[in-house]
Order: sequence, then C-alpha cells, then structure tokens
Amino acid sequence: MSEDIAIGVENLGKKYIIGHQKPERYTTLRDAIANKLKSLGHQPLRQRLNNDAPGREDFWALKDVSFEIRQGQRVGIIGRNGAGKSTLLKILSRITEPTTGRVSIKGRVASLLEVGTGFHPELTGRENIYLNGAILGMSKVEIKRKFDEIVAFAEIDKFLDTPVKRYSSGMYVRLAFAVAAHLEPEILIVDEVLAVGDYQFQKKCLGKMEDVAKSGRTVLFVSHNMQAVSQLTERCVILAGGRTHFDGPTDKAIMTYLVAQKESFDQPAYYQAPPNKSGNHVTWARVHTSEPQGLHCWGNPIIFEFALNITEPQEGVCFSFQVVNAHQQAVTYQWLFDSEKPFGHQAGKVILRCIIPKFRIYMGTYKLITWLSGRGRIITESLSDICFFEVTMQSIVRNEFDWHPDACLYIEDANWEIYHP
Ligand SMILES: Nc1ncnc2c1ncn2[C@@H]1O[C@H](COP(=O)(O)OP(=O)(O)OP(=O)(O)O)[C@@H](O)[C@H]1O
Ligand SMILES: [Mg+2]
Repeated sequence: MSEDIAIGVENLGKKYIIGHQKPERYTTLRDAIANKLKSLGHQPLRQRLNNDAPGREDFWALKDVSFEIRQGQRVGIIGRNGAGKSTLLKILSRITEPTTGRVSIKGRVASLLEVGTGFHPELTGRENIYLNGAILGMSKVEIKRKFDEIVAFAEIDKFLDTPVKRYSSGMYVRLAFAVAAHLEPEILIVDEVLAVGDYQFQKKCLGKMEDVAKSGRTVLFVSHNMQAVSQLTERCVILAGGRTHFDGPTDKAIMTYLVAQKESFDQPAYYQAPPNKSGNHVTWARVHTSEPQGLHCWGNPIIFEFALNITEPQEGVCFSFQVVNAHQQAVTYQWLFDSEKPFGHQAGKVILRCIIPKFRIYMGTYKLITWLSGRGRIITESLSDICFFEVTMQSIVRNEFDWHPDACLYIEDANWEIYHP
C-alpha cells in the first residue's frame, strides 16, 4: 500500500448463509394462525419439524469489491437497501470478518455504524465516553480534554450519569456521534447516523463532519440523504447487489444513482388522464426536466406542460399548479388567468407551457398539484400527486448554503405560453 493510502480494499467478499422458510399459502393473519394451530394439533412432531426446516443458501452480501482511499479523502458509499453498504463498513471497522479479500487500514478508526454498537448499555454516558476513548487508544488526559466538548455537543448533560440503555435512540446517537467525531480519529466511518437525529442535530453532525474532513482526516460516509452526501463527500462508490457499480466524483455518482433509481421503480414525471374523463380537464401533464428520467439539475430551465381539453368554453378560466415537496409542503406556485393570456374560450385542446428559465429549488423529490377553475372560480378539476421529479444540486459550492429544505421559493420570471394545436 503506497504512502498516502488510508484504506485499501482488495477483492473483498462477504458470504452469509441464509435460510428459507417454505412459502406459506395463507392469505390473512387469521388464516395463518388458524392453520398453524390446526397443523400443530394434527401433525406428529417429526413431520412438523421437517416442514419447518429451512432451506439454506449461500448469499454474497459483498463480492469482488476493490478500491483505495487516500488519506484525507471524503468518500460516500451509496446504494439501495441491501446493497452491502453496512456490511462493507462493518468489515472496515473490524466488526465482522470478510469471507474473501483483504483490507489494509492505516490510522486510528472511529466508527459510528448503528444505534446499539460501540456503547455498553449498562454503563453511563460518562463511562462510555472514557471507554470509547480508551478503545481508540487515547490517554485519560486526552479524553478529559475533550470531555466537555463532547457533552456540550451531544446536549445530554442532565443524563450524563444515567446508563445509556435508558437513553432514547436520538440521545444515544447524539452521544455516539459526539464521541466518534471528537476523539480525533484519523479515519471516521459513519453509517446513516443522520437518519436518527432531529433536523437541528443533523445539521450539527454535518457541520462537525465537515470540520473533521477539513482537518485532513479521512471520512467514509453512508447515507440515503443525497444532500448530505453531496455536501460532505468528494468521491462516491455506488454499491449494487454487493458489487461496485460506480466509483468516481460525487456529482456524477449521485446523478448515476438517481437516474438508475428512477428507471427501476419511481413514479413518472408525466400524467395521463383516464380515457373516460368529461368536462374541462387536464388530458396530460409533463415536467420537462434538464436530465432524463425526471431528474433536474438545480438552476437549469424547466418546463411544466399541461394539455387541457375544453368541452365547455367560457370566460374566467384559471389554471394553477403547485410544486410540492416530500413533506407535502408547497414550495412554489404558478397560475394563469385567461384575462392575462386568453385560453379556454374555445372548445378543443389547448396546451399551456410554464417555462422557468432558472429553476433553483432545494435538492429532493417533488410532485405537482393542479387546479382548473371556470367562471366564478368554481373548481372544475383538481389533481394531486402527479408528475414526480427529482432535483439535484450538482457542482455548486454547497458548503456556503444553509437553507432549510422546506424553504419556499417565489419565482418571478416564469413565462407562460399557450398553443392551440
Ligand atoms: N448477518 C447477516 N446474515 C445474513 N444476511 C445478512 C447479514 N447481514 C446482512 N445481510 C444481508 O446482506 C445484504 C447487505 O446488507 P447491508 O446491511 O450491508 O445493506 P445496506 O446496503 O447497508 O442496506 P440499507 O441501505 O438498508 O442499510 C442484505 O441483503 C442483508 O440482508
Ligand atoms: Mg445499512
């Protein structure tokens, strides 16, 4: 391993042996319980045991994974549930042994893998801080020096002398994170810790991890939060089915990952009305994002396009839509009155196009709600949860941003166009 390599991984593989129960045909819980009871009553014990004996199968949670991480590099590991991310971190933290391959690590590792590891439940917060420091190879004096900082960061002063088994999962992870980040490890390995804490704490953790990274230490970070990954890392490894699918710059990795996700199971960036719709209504709607598969890169032009079928022409028509985030909050809205640009005055199809030259909206998943109203503002049709799309913030200086993800956006320069095809 060359001088400046902190972590080297070569042909790493991890095999688990998993058991399969025989599939059960029962459709309801009641049936399942009833059948179980019935079978217990009538079958001899030997037969019951045979029926329940699971089949066994080799399962590779990681296969042929190789990479090197330079000292001071900040690397994200991303991938779908079950991709092998935690398995990889557990091997690197020496919690579990690899089945094949080799790992070489240079430097003191602190890892925060999941709530429940690293701490002794019977010991108090105070005792666990000392225990963890000692495991990390720090002297008592060194730990003492960091102690107040850790307690202040974790905000658990009142519970310092309570056994950690009495902590809430949020408190637990606060302390665990504070210990791992403050005890000056040379390599910090963190798995999804941000998912547990509240928003304020998540922000604090990210800030702390940035400090750790800036001070030249190596950071390995697993998260499903692409915003956090893009903020914190410069390089990402995408794992898929236990294998390396991509290894390169974070911007490109996130884009690759999100596009693949969209292709496989996400909802579409368009809407198509059912054929039996009557009255004035939207026949289809589409979001033209800057990238394929409903993926939009922050700051690029976006077009929201709606085809209306007008069966009852009238004056006073209005069409509006909101962009809604994953927390069901509307982050921006647009509308068009027929008095501004005439539409809906003649029967047939009309296409409305709302063009936003620079669509700057926080990273995340969004969808639309639409309203079509007629004379007297009577709502003719309202659609919700249509046209899903995803925004990424690629290659902008993210460290300077301290936005709240739900911040509303008022777009002044939207242009509406109307076509009568
Ligand atoms: N002890 C175990 N015994 C059997 N299978 C296991 C064991 N630990 C993990 N696995 C399997 O290995 C695969 C990878 O698991 P892993 O926890 O590494 O996924 P992950 O990428 O961290 O997923 P997530 O995003 O859900 O945290 C999964 O299919 C999991 O069921
Ligand atoms: Mg995991």
